[in-house]
Amino acid sequence: MNAPLFQPWRLGTLDLPNHVIMAPLTRARADEQHVPTAMMAAYYAQRADCGLIITEATAVDPLGMGWYRAPGIWNDAMVEAWTKVTTTVHAAGGRIFNQLWHMGRLVLPDYLNGDQPIGPSAIASEGETFAPRADGDTSLFLPMKPYVVPREMGQADIDHAVSSYGKGAANAAAADFDGVEIHAANGYLIDQFLQSKTNVRTDKYGGSVDKRVLFLREVVAAVVQNMDPGRVGLRISPTSVRKGMGDESPERLARAIGGVAEEFQLAYVHLIEPIAPGFMDKPKYPVMKDLRQSFSGAVIQNGGFDAETAAHFIAAGEAQAISFGRPYIANPDLLSRFRKAIPLAEANFDFAYVGDEQGYIDYPTADGR
Ligand SMILES: Cc1cc2nc3c(=O)[nH]c(=O)nc-3n(C[C@H](O)[C@H](O)[C@H](O)COP(=O)(O)O)c2cc1C
Repeated sequence: MNAPLFQPWRLGTLDLPNHVIMAPLTRARADEQHVPTAMMAAYYAQRADCGLIITEATAVDPLGMGWYRAPGIWNDAMVEAWTKVTTTVHAAGGRIFNQLWHMGRLVLPDYLNGDQPIGPSAIASEGETFAPRADGDTSLFLPMKPYVVPREMGQADIDHAVSSYGKGAANAAAADFDGVEIHAANGYLIDQFLQSKTNVRTDKYGGSVDKRVLFLREVVAAVVQNMDPGRVGLRISPTSVRKGMGDESPERLARAIGGVAEEFQLAYVHLIEPIAPGFMDKPKYPVMKDLRQSFSGAVIQNGGFDAETAAHFIAAGEAQAISFGRPYIANPDLLSRFRKAIPLAEANFDFAYVGDEQGYIDYPTADGR
């Protein structure tokens, strides 16, 4: 049953044993200096039988870090700690890419010693986000604060951000990751440049869609300096309107992004295009076909899949592989549950973004291990 999920295949320049991809999931179990911890190595090793693990979003620069206890990859202590994670995953037989991240305008000043965050244009996101925990605060949940108006990035800010992604890729290679995924989705910095609602610049980085993809193009160019493009993926969500996002033509944007991925012969594009609502809405106008017009490499689709729908999409050639996010929280043995048609365990979302071992590495496998 669902045989297409369990076939080996080649993604870029990496052989994968199956088509079940672990989607990136921020779980905030690094330490307060954003250095990965031993429990993160245990967590990823528990899931090492999937085709490919894509780590949680990992900040490439302190200016792009606005999440309490999320990991970074900008200094030597982080590289050393990530090396322990990759070594543990490889010893368990797995493959692991690091997701390179910069939050741009979504960083609260609380994380920047009170400074304004940076973004393509001086437009604030809507709503609130998690603020860091105050000293002595022992409640489980983090306080919430509204997003602020970012400072419009000048050329020096752009050059610094681009080189941070390049250094992030070099650090990921040093930490023995099998590859990297550039996070250009979900309203973070690259997405802020891509989408018309958050980029109203009048210089070479804004205006037409060809100009809005320039920042992404520069980031990809910097990353492939330090990583084989056959080991580089790109995550996008051009139809998502979460976190105050929006684009005048997601279809055109998808074609332009696909053009960049094609130009650099990237291993894959990871498209968040849900087939069921939940994490984000199901898009009214899916862009998979538009992406395919300009990109000939593998597309990993994500959002609301189960084993049956994933196998069906792969068999029909709709996507080369499917990634699973929420199902991986409570099912470390997701692959084996899919193989044996064992019902999935339900996650306790209270511990999705906060806590330590509980709700993180204590979910049992179906056979009780
Ligand atoms: C707890 C949680 C953390 C997430 N963290 C990330 C992240 O770090 N990077 C990212 O690109 N997407 C992140 N996502 C989005 C997931 O990768 C995925 O797109 C989403 O859960 C929909 O897929 P699913 O239906 O298989 O869960 C996160 C989602 C959840 C629920």
